[in-house]
Amino acid sequence: PMVRELFGLSDLEAALRKRFGLKQAVVVPGDSDVSEEAKRELGRAGSKVLRRVIGPGDVVAVMGGTTMARMASQFSVPSPLRDNWFVPARGGLGESVDYQANTIASELAKRTGARYRMLHVPDHLSEDAYQTIMQEPNVREVVDMIRSARIVVHGIGDASAMARRRKLDAGTVQEILRDGALAEAFGYYFDREGAVVHRMATAGLRLEDIEAAESVIGIAGGRSKGEAIAAVMRFGHDDVLVTDEAAAEEALKHA
Ligand code: F6P
Repeated sequence: PMVRELFGLSDLEAALRKRFGLKQAVVVPGDSDVSEEAKRELGRAGSKVLRRVIGPGDVVAVMGGTTMARMASQFSVPSPLRDNWFVPARGGLGESVDYQANTIASELAKRTGARYRMLHVPDHLSEDAYQTIMQEPNVREVVDMIRSARIVVHGIGDASAMARRRKLDAGTVQEILRDGALAEAFGYYFDREGAVVHRMATAGLRLEDIEAAESVIGIAGGRSKGEAIAAVMRFGHDDVLVTDEAAAEEALKHA
């Protein structure tokens, strides 16, 4: 006889926690791929998690993307965050201005009375350009702040969708996919085991900074992202995953 899988949201949360060794998993109903309401709820759930995690003096590094934008536009706090900073986790990653990390950081700061810094540096730099630009005191100061972030909040995307959205040249896209990239997060591409394929010098958060951060929060939903979410969870540095029902089911199939 067929076994009916009737998972409630809290069962899905428990299964995600267990499977990926997370401190917390939050699952909202529905599928963000097809439901605007599910996507809004995902953003709202993400904003609640971030509100609870922020403590006095924390620097929060945020990534861009449409999901992060939904989170930011619903973020609110009971009293102003006068001694917090929001910074972009990475430089320009070829996202349109509405959902660049810089934009998300400034919106979060404006909504909460916190301060923010911008990083106006393209993300993919040659080694020479990187060395030169890092000698600029203004850049250095922001980069040091980004790398000291106690909290990192990020989206997750499908590797080929993100490579295209960033308009990487066809050769690079092919190379990344040939190396088995399934997922993208923090500007890095990951294969199914959660290993990083394709890394470059970046004037932003590096893998070691993500490992050192105390609280890493991933926010991503939609059935089409399930496999990508599983890959990034295998990378293993997220503490909290905020997702939706469809992505959770799919991620668990690939776990
Ligand atoms: O480019 C920023 C970023 O957070 C990526 O790291 C991630 O893959 C993507 O955006 C997610 O975008 P969206 O929420 O629009 O699917």
